[in-house]
Amino acid sequence: MKVFSDPWVGHPGLNRMGLHRKRLKTAQAISRFRRAQTVRVRDADEQHLLDHGFVAIENFLPTDEFAAMEAECHGAAEAAAQATAIPEKPEVWGFGDSDRHDWGFDRFDGSTLNRFIKPGPLAKAFPRNPRFKRLARLVTGKTMSPRRNWLYQTVNGDEAEIPDQQREFHRDTFFNCMKYWYFIDPVTEDDGPFVYVPGSHKLTLERLDWEEKKAQSAVEARIAKNRREMTGSFRIEESEMEAMGLPPAQSYPVPGNTLVVANVFGFHRRGDAVPGTRRLALYGNHRPQPFIPFGS
Ligand SMILES: [Fe+2]
Repeated sequence: MKVFSDPWVGHPGLNRMGLHRKRLKTAQAISRFRRAQTVRVRDADEQHLLDHGFVAIENFLPTDEFAAMEAECHGAAEAAAQATAIPEKPEVWGFGDSDRHDWGFDRFDGSTLNRFIKPGPLAKAFPRNPRFKRLARLVTGKTMSPRRNWLYQTVNGDEAEIPDQQREFHRDTFFNCMKYWYFIDPVTEDDGPFVYVPGSHKLTLERLDWEEKKAQSAVEARIAKNRREMTGSFRIEESEMEAMGLPPAQSYPVPGNTLVVANVFGFHRRGDAVPGTRRLALYGNHRPQPFIPFGS
């Protein structure tokens, strides 16, 4: 579990004894052990992912394969739009509920619409790509389940009206886990590109201290019954990152046919965007159980 509303994760006594610190260190050691069982770095892109916590690989698929994938994905996005018009605004503020349909589901983060569309045959097969599989293992030591794979359309909303929590810097959870976006359409600075702090996936002493401080506040939030602050996806201010000696964040506008893989234990956020702009990507969230020592 990552959320501090859990009675064990948020236990005051156990946390005083260093539970959070120990969970982080154990999970880190296990993912390293799993990686050693499953994969060795072979090229510059893989080394980049290990050293910096993310990598963007342009021209990932050969041109003809990309063209077929692009056609399939555009077709699926259009079919979904035909079936269910893109909703203008969320009904509730914050991290909305999923609105399910035959083609997939819609969910709002603040004013940003996330449309998750069931992948077609080519998109479905993407996680079996051998180069991609190696990258997933480099982060977690585990193969990604193709079931966690979607065609993902993002429609940027008006931040001034309803803020989107995904646009604040955060890390997803307390162990190495991976997200990927294989962009079908190009992403410009206006479209809300991925923003990542290079090297922030490393468990340094400064990071451990920060983690412990955040865990302490989350435990206090649990005692005070403050739900929002009990989240396990800790938020971070830019000044705190600077104090930890981390470099400035970078945003990654990319052409179509680019694969972005990130270790989301590192700090990241969704980039600022012009309202109404869209992104279309294959997307997957690979978060295997952190305490299983066997790689796969
Ligand atoms: Fe995230």
